[in-house]
Amino acid sequence: MTTLGLPQVVPDPSLPGRVRIYEVGPRDGLQNEQTLVPTSTKAELVRRLVDAGLPVIESTSFVHPRWVPQLADAADLVDALVVDLGDVALDMPVLVPNERGLDRALEKGLRHIAVFGSATETFARRNLNRSLDEQFAMFEPTVRRARDAGVDVRAYVSMCFGDPWEGAVPVDQVVSVGRRLVDLGASELSLGDTIGTGTPGHVTALLAALNDAGLPNESLAMHFHDTYGQALSNAVAALRCGVTTFDASTGGLGGCPYAKSATGNLATEDLVWLLTGLGIEHGVDLDRLVSTSLWMASRLGRPSPSAVVRALGGDADG
Ligand code: HMG
Ligand code: MG
Repeated sequence: MTTLGLPQVVPDPSLPGRVRIYEVGPRDGLQNEQTLVPTSTKAELVRRLVDAGLPVIESTSFVHPRWVPQLADAADLVDALVVDLGDVALDMPVLVPNERGLDRALEKGLRHIAVFGSATETFARRNLNRSLDEQFAMFEPTVRRARDAGVDVRAYVSMCFGDPWEGAVPVDQVVSVGRRLVDLGASELSLGDTIGTGTPGHVTALLAALNDAGLPNESLAMHFHDTYGQALSNAVAALRCGVTTFDASTGGLGGCPYAKSATGNLATEDLVWLLTGLGIEHGVDLDRLVSTSLWMASRLGRPSPSAVVRALGGDADG
């Protein structure tokens, strides 16, 4: 590992002092792998991420196993994580699209779920087999029953900054979908740039419109994919607006099997480097995280696309 393993810290007092990183690698990352990753490898990935200090780790999805065969072992993975980590595993959020998924999550005693809505008609149909309006009919009993059972619900909105089939997505459309999900009972809204086309001005405009609709920054999270290399710039724009929760994926794993041209998420290491340099607390150990991504890359048989993993890991190899 290089002696330049951390950036020089030069704080920007106009930015938040602390950020919560919501790690999605085991779910968003591994849902898109061509080959099936063994459950034991997934469990080790999650355990290593816990050791690296990630405060929230989305572990898997209780979706239809035919739709996402990569995560068909969701129940087995949760069992393995409970053996390894005890109750901590039950606080790891999982994706749930409907009541059937909720039943499966409740059976395991899980305490946090995330429903995932679409801002566009086409992606709602492709990802959920529902129209834009029908998705809410599917989520309504799911969220209500989860809340009644004391389970916390996050809601994603996909295609907030562009859609590969419909093109531009009006800000008002995203606000309307987000508002409806919060009205159903979601405690946090994660704004997905599913195909990575967003740019900083767009981020600022969307956040202003959401704030105007009564959705404060404390209830919002940003979920950037890095397809066009814009994720870090967009994160800085969101930080400037006061957002303090950022989704990221170790080593930049990921994509979405139902979204053409979606590649990996913002790499957690790249985000950690940025936050560290800005003097923003995040609680993550960068060395351990980079080691985890190098280990995962060796399991997947290809290098991580993260610039920070390559810069730091390169020295370890060479
Ligand atoms: P459907 O075929 O319309 O389901 O799929 P259905 O309600 O008609 O049910 C058909 C059968 O599936 C029934 O069984 C159900 O019990 C079963 P049968 O009676 O025929 O024997 N079934 C299930 N089985 C297990 N678990 C379930 C489940 N649900 C139904 N949960 C469905 C609708 C929503 C289920 C399907 O479209 C689906 O699973 N989609 C998931 C797609 C997905 O996971 N995409 C990736 C995640 S989203 C993402 O990555 C974006 C994000 O990262 C943010 C961003 O980047 O923008 C979050
Ligand atoms: Mg995603």
